Amino acid sequence: MEQKLLLVFQQSELDAVKMYQVLTDKAAGEDEKQLLRQLGAVEGRHAAVLRGFTGVSDLKPTDKMAKPIGLLREKLGAKGTYTLLALGEHGAYFLYQPLAKKYDALRQVAKDERDHGNTLLKLVRALRRSLPIPVLGN
Ligand SMILES: [Fe+2]
Ligand SMILES: [Fe+2]
Repeated sequence: MEQKLLLVFQQSELDAVKMYQVLTDKAAGEDEKQLLRQLGAVEGRHAAVLRGFTGVSDLKPTDKMAKPIGLLREKLGAKGTYTLLALGEHGAYFLYQPLAKKYDALRQVAKDERDHGNTLLKLVRALRRSLPIPVLGN
Protein backbone atom coordinates (compact mmCIF):
# COMPACT_ATOMS: atom_id res chain seq x y z
CA MET A 1 0.00 0.00 0.00
CA GLU A 2 2.69 2.47 1.01
CA GLN A 3 4.92 1.35 -1.85
CA LYS A 4 2.07 2.06 -4.26
CA LEU A 5 1.60 5.56 -2.84
CA LEU A 6 5.34 6.25 -2.97
CA LEU A 7 5.39 5.16 -6.61
CA VAL A 8 2.49 7.51 -7.43
CA PHE A 9 4.48 10.38 -5.91
CA GLN A 10 7.66 9.31 -7.68
CA GLN A 11 5.86 9.32 -11.04
CA SER A 12 4.23 12.69 -10.27
CA GLU A 13 7.60 14.24 -9.48
CA LEU A 14 8.99 12.97 -12.77
CA ASP A 15 5.95 14.30 -14.64
CA ALA A 16 6.43 17.65 -12.88
CA VAL A 17 9.99 17.86 -14.24
CA LYS A 18 8.58 17.64 -17.76
CA MET A 19 5.82 20.12 -16.96
CA TYR A 20 8.33 22.73 -15.75
CA GLN A 21 10.41 22.10 -18.89
CA VAL A 22 7.38 22.96 -21.04
CA LEU A 23 6.68 26.07 -18.96
CA THR A 24 10.35 27.08 -19.19
CA ASP A 25 10.21 26.82 -22.98
CA LYS A 26 7.08 28.97 -23.12
CA ALA A 27 8.23 31.59 -20.60
CA ALA A 28 8.84 35.10 -21.93
CA GLY A 29 11.76 36.40 -19.89
CA GLU A 30 15.13 34.91 -19.01
CA ASP A 31 14.64 35.36 -15.22
CA GLU A 32 11.28 33.64 -15.44
CA LYS A 33 12.82 30.78 -17.41
CA GLN A 34 15.58 30.48 -14.84
CA LEU A 35 13.10 30.24 -11.96
CA LEU A 36 10.98 27.61 -13.74
CA ARG A 37 14.13 25.66 -14.57
CA GLN A 38 15.08 25.70 -10.87
CA LEU A 39 11.61 24.51 -9.87
CA GLY A 40 11.90 21.65 -12.36
CA ALA A 41 15.31 20.73 -10.97
CA VAL A 42 13.86 20.48 -7.45
CA GLU A 43 11.11 18.16 -8.74
CA GLY A 44 13.87 16.01 -10.22
CA ARG A 45 15.56 15.83 -6.83
CA HIS A 46 12.21 14.91 -5.28
CA ALA A 47 11.88 12.04 -7.75
CA ALA A 48 15.32 10.85 -6.64
CA VAL A 49 14.28 11.00 -2.97
CA LEU A 50 11.21 8.91 -3.78
CA ARG A 51 13.37 6.49 -5.77
CA GLY A 52 15.38 6.00 -2.60
CA PHE A 53 12.22 4.78 -0.88
CA THR A 54 10.75 2.67 -3.70
CA GLY A 55 13.95 1.24 -5.15
CA VAL A 56 12.30 1.58 -8.57
CA SER A 57 14.58 3.25 -11.10
CA ASP A 58 12.89 2.56 -14.45
CA LEU A 59 10.05 5.11 -14.29
CA LYS A 60 9.99 7.65 -17.10
CA PRO A 61 8.53 11.17 -17.17
CA THR A 62 5.17 11.31 -18.96
CA ASP A 63 3.10 14.13 -20.52
CA LYS A 64 0.33 13.73 -17.98
CA MET A 65 0.96 17.16 -16.44
CA ALA A 66 3.02 18.78 -19.20
CA LYS A 67 0.29 18.47 -21.80
CA PRO A 68 -2.68 19.98 -19.96
CA ILE A 69 -0.54 22.65 -18.29
CA GLY A 70 1.10 23.47 -21.62
CA LEU A 71 -2.35 23.93 -23.18
CA LEU A 72 -3.46 26.00 -20.24
CA ARG A 73 -0.36 28.17 -20.63
CA GLU A 74 -1.30 28.82 -24.26
CA LYS A 75 -4.98 29.54 -23.62
CA LEU A 76 -4.84 31.25 -20.26
CA GLY A 77 -1.41 32.85 -20.30
CA ALA A 78 1.36 32.83 -17.72
CA LYS A 79 -0.31 34.46 -14.73
CA GLY A 80 -3.48 32.33 -14.76
CA THR A 81 -1.48 29.15 -15.28
CA TYR A 82 0.97 29.89 -12.48
CA THR A 83 -1.90 30.74 -10.14
CA LEU A 84 -3.55 27.38 -10.77
CA LEU A 85 -0.22 25.63 -10.52
CA ALA A 86 0.37 27.26 -7.13
CA LEU A 87 -2.84 25.61 -5.96
CA GLY A 88 -1.49 22.29 -7.21
CA GLU A 89 1.81 22.79 -5.39
CA HIS A 90 0.03 23.71 -2.17
CA GLY A 91 -2.21 20.68 -2.67
CA ALA A 92 0.88 18.50 -3.01
CA TYR A 93 2.06 19.76 0.39
CA PHE A 94 -1.12 18.36 1.94
CA LEU A 95 -1.06 15.14 -0.09
CA TYR A 96 2.44 14.46 1.24
CA GLN A 97 1.47 14.94 4.88
CA PRO A 98 0.69 11.30 5.81
CA LEU A 99 4.14 10.26 4.54
CA ALA A 100 5.82 13.44 5.78
CA LYS A 101 4.78 12.60 9.33
CA LYS A 102 6.57 9.29 9.01
CA TYR A 103 9.71 10.21 7.05
CA ASP A 104 11.91 13.29 7.55
CA ALA A 105 13.06 13.30 3.92
CA LEU A 106 9.47 13.53 2.76
CA ARG A 107 8.69 16.27 5.26
CA GLN A 108 11.33 18.34 3.46
CA VAL A 109 9.81 17.42 0.09
CA ALA A 110 6.40 18.55 1.32
CA LYS A 111 7.88 21.85 2.53
CA ASP A 112 9.48 22.37 -0.88
CA GLU A 113 6.07 21.97 -2.52
CA ARG A 114 4.64 24.63 -0.24
CA ASP A 115 7.57 26.91 -1.13
CA HIS A 116 6.94 26.24 -4.82
CA GLY A 117 3.32 27.33 -4.41
CA ASN A 118 4.37 30.49 -2.57
CA THR A 119 7.09 31.25 -5.13
CA LEU A 120 4.64 30.85 -8.02
CA LEU A 121 2.25 33.29 -6.36
CA LYS A 122 5.11 35.75 -5.93
CA LEU A 123 5.95 35.25 -9.58
CA VAL A 124 2.37 36.11 -10.56
CA ARG A 125 2.52 39.26 -8.44
CA ALA A 126 5.87 40.22 -9.99
CA LEU A 127 4.52 39.75 -13.52
CA ARG A 128 1.41 41.80 -12.73
CA ARG A 129 3.36 44.70 -11.28
CA SER A 130 6.50 44.45 -13.41
CA LEU A 131 8.58 43.70 -10.30
CA PRO A 132 11.78 41.63 -10.29
CA ILE A 133 11.18 37.90 -10.76
CA PRO A 134 11.45 36.15 -7.36
CA VAL A 135 14.28 33.79 -6.52
CA LEU A 136 13.45 30.27 -5.33
CA GLY A 137 13.34 29.92 -1.54
CA ASN A 138 12.97 33.65 -0.85
FE1 LIG B 1 8.06 17.91 -6.01
FE1 LIG C 1 6.75 21.37 -6.62
